[in-house]
Amino acid sequence: MPQERYRQVFENNRRWVEQKRATDEHYFERLAAGQQPGFLYLGCSDSRVPANEIMGLEPGEVFVHRNIANLVVNTDLNVHSVIEYAVNHLEVEHIIVCGHYGCGGVRAAMKSQDLGIMNGWLREIRDVYRLHKKELSAIPDEEERYKRLIELNVQEQCIHVIKTASVQRSYLRRKLPIVHGWVFDLHDGLLKDLEIPFDKILDDIREIYRLDV
Ligand code: CO
Repeated sequence: MPQERYRQVFENNRRWVEQKRATDEHYFERLAAGQQPGFLYLGCSDSRVPANEIMGLEPGEVFVHRNIANLVVNTDLNVHSVIEYAVNHLEVEHIIVCGHYGCGGVRAAMKSQDLGIMNGWLREIRDVYRLHKKELSAIPDEEERYKRLIELNVQEQCIHVIKTASVQRSYLRRKLPIVHGWVFDLHDGLLKDLEIPFDKILDDIREIYRLDV
C-alpha cells in the first residue's frame, strides 16, 4: 500500500501536466519564465491547510513558508531569509500570517509536557500565552481559550514580521507590503481576517524596534 500511494503521486503529476497543457499549451513556458507573486504566505505545516488551495491561487501567485504553528522566530534564518527575499526581491504586496483552529502545535504548547527538541519551538507559543495571560485566563472554556490563543499567536507573529528591517523600510518607502493575520477554520474551510491594525502596530513598535534608518 505505501508503494502504491507513492506511485500514485507520479500518476497524479502526469494528469496535472496534461490538464494544465490542455487549457493552456504555453502554461509551463510561462511558469519557467519567472515568478511575480503578490503574496507571501507564512502558515502552519499542517497538511490540511494548503496555501494555494485555500486562497484559490495558481502556481506563481503566492510565495510560501510553512512551519509548525506558523511562527516567525527571531533567530530562524529560514523564515527571515524568506521574508527578506519576498520583500526586497519579489516585492510582494501582502504578507499573510495564517494560523488555523485545531492547530496541533498550539495544542501541544497548552499542555504541561516535555516534548524534547520541540520544547524550544513551542516555547514561542507559551510566550504568547504569557503576554496575554490576563485575557486568556479569563476565558473559562478550554476550547474557547485554545481558539483565542491561536488568534493571539497569529497576531504576535504578525508583530514579529513588522519588527523586521526590510518590512519597515519597504513600507515607509512604498506603503507595501501590508501585513495581515488570518485564521483558517478546518470545519468550514473559511478564512477569517483578524484585521490586525497594521499601521497602529508599526507606529507602536517603532519606538523600540525602529530599524529603517
Ligand atoms: Co497547525
